[in-house]
Formats: sequence, structure tokens, C-alpha cells
Amino acid sequence: MHLAGKSDSGHLGRKEPSRLRRLGVLLTVALLVSSIWTQSAAQDELTSPEQLMSHGFDCFSCHAIDKEIVGPAWITIADRYHHDRAKVPLLAAKIRDGSVGDFGKVPMPAHPDISQKLATYLANYILSLNGALARPPQKYTYKDAASRQVTLDFPVFEDYHGHQVVTKDVFAGFEKYNSYCFRCHGFDAVGGEYAPDLRKSLENGMNKHQFFVVSMEGRPAKGMPGWAGFFDADELNQIYEYIVARAANLLPPGRPPSRSD
Ligand code: HEC
Ligand code: HEC
Repeated sequence: MHLAGKSDSGHLGRKEPSRLRRLGVLLTVALLVSSIWTQSAAQDELTSPEQLMSHGFDCFSCHAIDKEIVGPAWITIADRYHHDRAKVPLLAAKIRDGSVGDFGKVPMPAHPDISQKLATYLANYILSLNGALARPPQKYTYKDAASRQVTLDFPVFEDYHGHQVVTKDVFAGFEKYNSYCFRCHGFDAVGGEYAPDLRKSLENGMNKHQFFVVSMEGRPAKGMPGWAGFFDADELNQIYEYIVARAANLLPPGRPPSRSD
């Protein structure tokens, strides 16, 4: 969009040969048309949360439909506003302008690049969600390296052709951690020179919500980058599960056994 602004600002235009100017005008029109087209195409195709992410919107870095991540679960938002369609304009405005204090102290960033039409669509979509989509909690119990029982709310291992391997998510978490986080937090999540041992952070009481808030927002002043927009919540969850499994002493250092072994 700012490209379009440049080519119709007069001061460059005067001295330009007219052919170039015509080209500039054409380019401006093409850019405008394509950006309107992309926005309305995005609007028309959005029928699922996955598509939101694939259109480059960062909503699912911080939200999930049925659980709190950095921001409230979308079903919680729908409940809070009683699924009342009269609240669509209010929610659409909050999506574009950002919000803080309605659910907690963590701010929801503004999204000025989202059109009014798309914000309205998203607000309608969120208000249409209901608790029937929530998954019931499950428990998984394992023995750690010292044969103590550990109970988690996600699976770490699965049986694969008679072998015990880690789940795809835990393995993906191992790979992502050791590609993006190890640099500061140390290989195998043992802590680094510059950044804390994240197993200790969890042992000392950091809960999942807090882990997600720090990871997605970062603490830029202290050298911790924010990962919102880079990872979605499912991807960060894989890293979280890997660190929890390491903290619970279920995985030794190094590459865990996976389906591809
Ligand atoms: C960096 C994290 C983050 C991102 C990215 C994010 N949100 Fe939020 N969202 C939050 C937080 C935190 C809140 C709670 C704000 C509050 O307490 O007022 C929130 C609140 C909301 C609310 C309720 C607003 C209110 O005050 O009632 C809606 C609706 C919402 N988000 C939709 C979205 C949509 C749609 C997107 C993507 C376009 C998105 N969010 C992206 C963190 C985020
Ligand atoms: C460039 C270095 C760097 C990278 C890369 C990095 N971190 Fe951090 N992280 C830090 C620093 C430094 C801190 C400590 C900040 C402070 O003092 O509050 C930190 C703190 C944290 C904390 C809070 C720990 C606590 O006990 O308060 C979490 C959670 C965290 N990082 C997650 C991650 C995850 C997940 C990744 C990979 C996706 C990652 N970090 C990648 C530097 C980094």
C-alpha cells in the first residue's frame, strides 16, 4: 500500500517522462486492485481457523478455539459476550484496535491491516463458537527414569510396530527446540549461558499459560525474543511438551526414538 502512495505523490511525477508516469499510475491501480482482491479473497475463503493462519494472520499464535493460550479461548470470548450478535461491531473494533483489561493484563495487539469486513467476519465467527467444541481432559501416566509415576495431560509416547517411540508432537518439539531455542537455552533444554534452564522454570511453578505468554511476547529488554507470528500455538505447544517431558525426566538428553528410526 505505501508503494501506491509513493507513486501518486506529485513531487516525483513532474519531471518524470510521461510514459513512466502512466506506468506508475497503472502500477498503482494494479497494486490497489490486487490488495483489495487479496483481502476479499481472504475474506471469502476463510471458513476455518487453519485458513486464518495460512493467510498470515497471527491469531493462532495467541488463541485457540477451546483453550487459553496467551489470550482467552475463543469459546470463552463467545460465552462472555453471550453469543450476542449485537456485539459484532464491538469485537470487530477490538480485533482492529487491540484490547487490554477485558480478560487480563496481557494486551491483544492491534491489527490495522485487517479490513473492517474481515474483522466483522472474524467477530461473527468467534461469537458463533460454543463449548460443545471443547475437548474433555485426558490423563497419561508414565514411569520416569527413577521409576516414579508421572501423570501428564498429553501423551509423550506411543507404540509404533511394537516399539515405544515419542509422539509426533514431542518429536517435532525436540526438533524445533533444538533449532530455535537451544542457542540461548542450551541443547536438550539443560539451560544456557545466556538464558535459563526451562525445565527449572516449569519445576519452579511456571504454568503453561505463563510459558506461552513469555514465549510468544518475549522479553525484548532481557534478550528473549517473541515468537508470535513465527510459531502458531500448536507449534509452540510441541516445544512445551518436549520441555515438560525433559523436566519430568521421561526423556534422556539427545534425539528421542521416533517413528522414522
Ligand atoms: C500476541 C497475542 C495475540 C494475538 C496475536 C491475537 N490476540 Fe486476540 N487477544 C489476546 C489477548 C491477551 C486478549 C485479551 C485482551 C483483554 O484482556 O482485553 C485477546 C482478546 C481477543 C478478543 C476479545 C476482545 C475483548 O476485549 O473482548 C478477540 C475477539 C480476539 N482477541 C481476536 C483475535 C483475532 C481475530 C486475532 C488475529 C487477527 C487475535 N485476536 C490475535 C492476544 C492476542
Ligand atoms: C536469543 C536468545 C534466546 C532465544 C533464541 C530464546 N530465548 Fe527464551 N529467554 C532468553 C532469555 C535471555 C531469557 C531470560 C529473560 C529474563 O531474564 O526474564 C529467556 C526466558 C524464557 C522463558 C521464561 C523463563 C523463566 O523462567 O522466566 C521462556 C518460557 C522462554 N525463554 C522460552 C523460549 C522458547 C520456547 C524459545 C525457542 C522458541 C526461546 N525461549 C528462545 C533468551 C532466548
